[in-house]
Amino acid sequence: PALRTFVRSLPKAELHLHIEGSLEPELMFELARRNGVDLPYASVDALRLAYAFDSLQSFLDLYYAGAGVLITERDFHDMTMAYMNRAKEDGVVHVEIMFDPQTHTARGVAMETVFAGMARALRKVRSSMGITSYLILSFLRHLTEADAMATLEAALPLREQYKDLWIGIGLDSGERGNPPGKFARVFARCKALGFRLVAHAGEEGPADYVRDALDLLQVERIDHGVRSEEDALLLQRLIDQQIPLTVCPFSNLKLQVIKSMPQHNLARLLRLGVMATVNSDDPAYFGGYVVDNYIACAEHLGLTRHELVVLAQNSIAASFLPPEQKNEHF
Ligand code: ADE
Ligand code: ZN
Repeated sequence: PALRTFVRSLPKAELHLHIEGSLEPELMFELARRNGVDLPYASVDALRLAYAFDSLQSFLDLYYAGAGVLITERDFHDMTMAYMNRAKEDGVVHVEIMFDPQTHTARGVAMETVFAGMARALRKVRSSMGITSYLILSFLRHLTEADAMATLEAALPLREQYKDLWIGIGLDSGERGNPPGKFARVFARCKALGFRLVAHAGEEGPADYVRDALDLLQVERIDHGVRSEEDALLLQRLIDQQIPLTVCPFSNLKLQVIKSMPQHNLARLLRLGVMATVNSDDPAYFGGYVVDNYIACAEHLGLTRHELVVLAQNSIAASFLPPEQKNEHF
């Protein structure tokens, strides 16, 4: 079959997806109109033209501004439903969705509104399409640890109500200058509470941050982690311990972590035995969903069909699904 048909047909999990990064310009404009929010762009096309980034921070500035149109439970529902419909087309069978509550609570949106909208969409999709999903509440690392702790405390009363979805804690936003150690205490508390732990590390930041995320935060999975290659000892540890990396090739290209797709190290990491997975990160901003990322890797890195199968199987293996549910997808 054609490459796209083949990749779509592989049962796969998406493990690195920021729901706010799935907000397409068309929906952003619709929500802005619905909520009477002013967008500083004349049109959807003008907004898309602004999506030219030279760093993580240049993207984050637009991404946080774009999230300003999300006000009501229905907005969070509609954004989540739009992503899930797109994921279904891509043959995604399970998704672990990160969300940034601080981006919303800082604007006066209630924590409950954020959870309720996403959960209504995810529960509907679970029963109608059979796609399973979990939520990973992510702390913004450019803010203080005290702010993260307060965010955790604000969310905990909702834990019981959303226990079918909210299973994990993540760490995202501007990496440089915000090392994992800054969040050691709040992550220790999350671990004691029984949450699964992940953190962005080694995207723009150094390999040291990957090691610190493992040692100081006790995370089970690294988001990005592509710069781990710069530290041979760390790389061997990732291989020996089969610590998953949720790699996002289009993101790395658009944020200029790499200069061109052929320079991406995904194939090298995979062939060394790293438990690498392919994901979309912020698909509305980076120009492609998860299947587009697989295809670009196949085309630019020479991945074989067998390697594409391995990547899809890694995504199931690296997920937080219980073993019996993983087995249904292998
Ligand atoms: N938030 C959304 N996408 C992100 C990324 N790629 N890195 C850090 N924070 C993010
Ligand atoms: Zn990310």
